[in-house]
Amino acid sequence: MKPRILVTGGTGYIGSHTVVELQKAGYPVVIIDNLSNSNAEVLDGIERITGIRPDFVEADCTDMTAVRALFDKYTGIKGIINFAASKAVGESMQKPVLYYRNNLNTLMNLLDVMAERDVKGIVFSSSCTVYGEPDVNPVTEQSPIKKATSPYGNTKQISEEIITDVINAGAPFKSVILRYFNPVGAHPSAEIGELPNGVPQNLIPFLTQTAIGIRKELSVFGNDYNTPDGSCIRDYIDVVDLAKAHVIAVERMLDDKSPEKIEIFNLGTGNGLSVLELINTFETATGVKVPHKIVGRRAGDIEKVWANPKHANEVLGWKAETPIADTMRSAWAWQCKLRERGIM
Ligand code: UD1
Repeated sequence: MKPRILVTGGTGYIGSHTVVELQKAGYPVVIIDNLSNSNAEVLDGIERITGIRPDFVEADCTDMTAVRALFDKYTGIKGIINFAASKAVGESMQKPVLYYRNNLNTLMNLLDVMAERDVKGIVFSSSCTVYGEPDVNPVTEQSPIKKATSPYGNTKQISEEIITDVINAGAPFKSVILRYFNPVGAHPSAEIGELPNGVPQNLIPFLTQTAIGIRKELSVFGNDYNTPDGSCIRDYIDVVDLAKAHVIAVERMLDDKSPEKIEIFNLGTGNGLSVLELINTFETATGVKVPHKIVGRRAGDIEKVWANPKHANEVLGWKAETPIADTMRSAWAWQCKLRERGIM
């Protein structure tokens, strides 16, 4: 029997895909989520894919009493994967205290409870946002950390520092910090996917909502960047590929395979794609047109960033495998499923 894993934010977008991969690998999972940006029906989707309903506690990780109660009820938790966080860049500019409180208090509570309850390791969701506008692409884990341009980005940088300080101070556990590039797509079963509240801020949910007719037109934010077609370049990583890396990371800590107490990995494909290229790929892969127009730049956008994933490839034995066309098809199938169910 494999040890139990606590997945915070496990009904969210990346969290739910990771729960599926953990269960497929034989780990019993308990999810804690306050459902602030997700809903409990995600548990049905996970169960339909894996045949197993994960244990679920509806609570906020900033509530230490609730976190301790979870550990009292679900014994034997040996690993934590922490997805519980607020993640909208724009909202973080409006509500910085909310972001600092949610993201940092959650992390500090988890670090405290790990020491109290003999948890061996924590996987932390970080972001390529820590690199800001890189001087050189692709970025490696040694690329300089740039000053964060939003409270959201700052919470990722500060969280990495908190974990480092706590472990350097002799905490009895390990950590793997995963810096995601741009996670996109959905589970190929179309049972789980991204479900943003309100008007999507991120490219793919806006694109699929436009393709299905919920939005009139996708705005491409700028075509005057210093890139081949003038639109911004990102490294779009399939969410299932990303989820699989978490299973490897958690296993690494539980099996004491890592020589270091803290490890950091970039999770990307290594390929940069422009906004216009991505729209094109979606249209070719699905046969569905996406009405779009070029508008001005979005404040705070990075011109180009993509990963050098060599460290994760070599050390974790992990590699992004899903072709981007398949990822676009899974994003589209998920959007169609939401329509079928009358959700959107
Ligand atoms: C941002 C954050 C990242 C965070 C991610 C998910 C920064 C620098 N990046 O990534 O840390 O993890 O959101 O919340 O803070 N675009 C359009 N039209 C749209 C929407 C987007 O053209 O309607 C373009 C953007 O200009 C960008 C690309 O699409 O070039 C991707 O945008 P988005 O999906 O919002 O992600 P990032 O801004 O890269």
